Amino acid sequence: MTTPTVPPQALLDARYQDGSAPHPSQWSPVLETLLAHHSVRKYLPKALPEGTLELLVAAAQSASTSSNLQTWSVVAIEDPARKAMFAELCNNQKHVAQCPLFLIWLADLGRNATLGQEREAVIEANDYCDIFLASIVDAALAAQNAVATAESLGLGTVYIGGIRNHIERVAAELKLPPMVTPVFGLCVGYPDPTETASVKPRLPQAAVLHRDSYSWPQQQPAIATYDQTLKAYFDGQGMQTGGWTKSVMSRLRGIEQLTGREGLKASFRKFGFKMK
Ligand SMILES: Cc1cc2nc3c(=O)[nH]c(=O)nc-3n(C[C@H](O)[C@H](O)[C@H](O)COP(=O)(O)O)c2cc1C
Repeated sequence: MTTPTVPPQALLDARYQDGSAPHPSQWSPVLETLLAHHSVRKYLPKALPEGTLELLVAAAQSASTSSNLQTWSVVAIEDPARKAMFAELCNNQKHVAQCPLFLIWLADLGRNATLGQEREAVIEANDYCDIFLASIVDAALAAQNAVATAESLGLGTVYIGGIRNHIERVAAELKLPPMVTPVFGLCVGYPDPTETASVKPRLPQAAVLHRDSYSWPQQQPAIATYDQTLKAYFDGQGMQTGGWTKSVMSRLRGIEQLTGREGLKASFRKFGFKMK
């Protein structure tokens, strides 16, 4: 075990910020990277070292993948004009234009569909919801490996669900074949140290960790605690919020909150996913 640069307990305490953090008897450099995660939305105009993209993709390809089907792909966008165009399509998120590398992660059932067509083979299961779900899971696992790797190299990242706001335009821009869809984008770059964002606390473990069977009652006090914790966190960032529960209710209130993504099922069908 290498000597951690930040004490493990400090990292764990920062993740919960309510005194509920576990006390580790084990530690690793991987944990140090994972626990220090926070999204970065301001980047320096600094190029990534050569080979970074390929290293991130190697890490992504090292993730587990359902039945080794490897039903994901990724498109790297580095051209400033293309990044600016995607930034606009993602509700004008400036960090998309600012980061040196914007990755668009794809659920890709098209590769297997084409292999099937070329061989005149029946691959009926490719049309079922389970395989569609597996491709989304595959893309997410791959991307998260890339995120952890980027952060271990001193880079910052932020996922961009906004890529689904105009998913058909994005698919057309990327020239996606049938049965391939964008899932999310990912900004990668050197964090601008003037950004004040820090580690955002998460729900206490009592809200997410169940033993033997699922329990709602154990979650209620944990959520009440978290409402206070997150409010204090945002107060510290100079942002007034009413706590986590209120923000969840507000985020999910109506379909207008989906910012164009309410038609996603129809888009997936247009892309050729049958989702049987
Ligand atoms: C699938 C996904 C989509 C996201 N989309 C966006 C986005 O479009 N814009 C953005 O600024 N952050 C986005 N985020 C980042 C989340 O807001 C962020 O992860 C969350 O608030 C927790 O903060 P942290 O990552 O700093 O811990 C997304 C995260 C995920 C996992």
